[in-house]
Amino acid sequence: MNRKETAQNSENRKTGRQPVRKAARSGAETAGQGRLSGPAWGHLLLDWYDANRRTLPWRTESPRDPYKVWVSEIMLQQTKVETVKPYYANWLEHFPTVAALAAADEEEVLHQWQGLGYYSRARNLHTAARQVMEDHGGKIPDTREEIRTLKGIGDYTAGAILSMAYGKRETAVDGNVLRVFARIYSIPENILSATVKKDITRLVVEQQDPDRPGDFNEALMDLGATVCIPGQPLCGQCPLEGRCQARKEGKEGELPLRITKKDIPTEHISALIISRNMPEGTYVLLRRRPATGLLAGMWEFPGSLEKDGESTEKGEDLLRELGISGKPDHPALKTVKHVFSHKIWQLAAHTVTTDSDPALPDEDWQWVEKKDLPGILWAGPHKKLVKLVP
Ligand code: ADE
Repeated sequence: MNRKETAQNSENRKTGRQPVRKAARSGAETAGQGRLSGPAWGHLLLDWYDANRRTLPWRTESPRDPYKVWVSEIMLQQTKVETVKPYYANWLEHFPTVAALAAADEEEVLHQWQGLGYYSRARNLHTAARQVMEDHGGKIPDTREEIRTLKGIGDYTAGAILSMAYGKRETAVDGNVLRVFARIYSIPENILSATVKKDITRLVVEQQDPDRPGDFNEALMDLGATVCIPGQPLCGQCPLEGRCQARKEGKEGELPLRITKKDIPTEHISALIISRNMPEGTYVLLRRRPATGLLAGMWEFPGSLEKDGESTEKGEDLLRELGISGKPDHPALKTVKHVFSHKIWQLAAHTVTTDSDPALPDEDWQWVEKKDLPGILWAGPHKKLVKLVP
């Protein structure tokens, strides 16, 4: 009998559980797999902004001068709003236009920046002003592609200038925006990860008013700076309190999760590729991950968490627990590194050939025929180990 048609799968049919190849459960390891979406709330934020916007020197003109937006945004990356105000006024007295900045001496530029710190920002502004004069006829570009070629203009500054000065439907996702969205959607992942930032950017686009993209971006900044503040937010003053999932769950003080690169822990895992040769083919033992949490419900090679450098020990423990004879090959055939938003997996793959056929602990363990492995719903990096199956 084909092993796939053994007790386990007939049990699956009885219980309605899905067989290995189609297995999927709710839950996902990143914010970006479709579960984040929801009803529109952008209008609530804009109404709040219209009544509560901060009066700031770089917000006085309409339409806004892209040069002034640019200068203010670069300064605001450096320090707080209150500190920026006098520097901004002084800067515009000395360099009222991009042409004036481009024509200035570097020494003079650095002099006016003095006290803000991180002088490379001032140097970049100066260089980019010259790029604008030389390559763009004195007009600050109005497309993301072009504006990103200017020295010192990253994704955030590009989005801020394009939306606030040119009315383009662009996002400007900074730490404030990440915090606000992590709370509204109760995103439990690390907001400093590229994936989460991408997911949140998508959500910003979803909520942004196409007629007022710049106001929408600044409304988020104001909300983040004055209401949805780090630590304990002032939910009683928030126009989005009724839409905030973190608030509903009582998690507003816990979120967002911010894990810097140096804080991300590495888990060393021995992944055992346990294979058994049968007359009809080779079978490999797989285990389904728990129904909630990281890579929920997906399939992996059984393995164990190791302390660095001890990889066979625990692998052997696991084999003993399962009642499987055989020894993991050592050293590892291959190691695979996989970076999640909040942890790093270092998978060391060890092969084990066995002729044991013990009773498996439960239905989350299955022998799967080698030819069926490519169709499995793999737990991320485990898929990379399939080609190692003997
Ligand atoms: N922080 C960064 N950009 C800002 C802006 N345009 N208004 C208020 N705070 C900000």
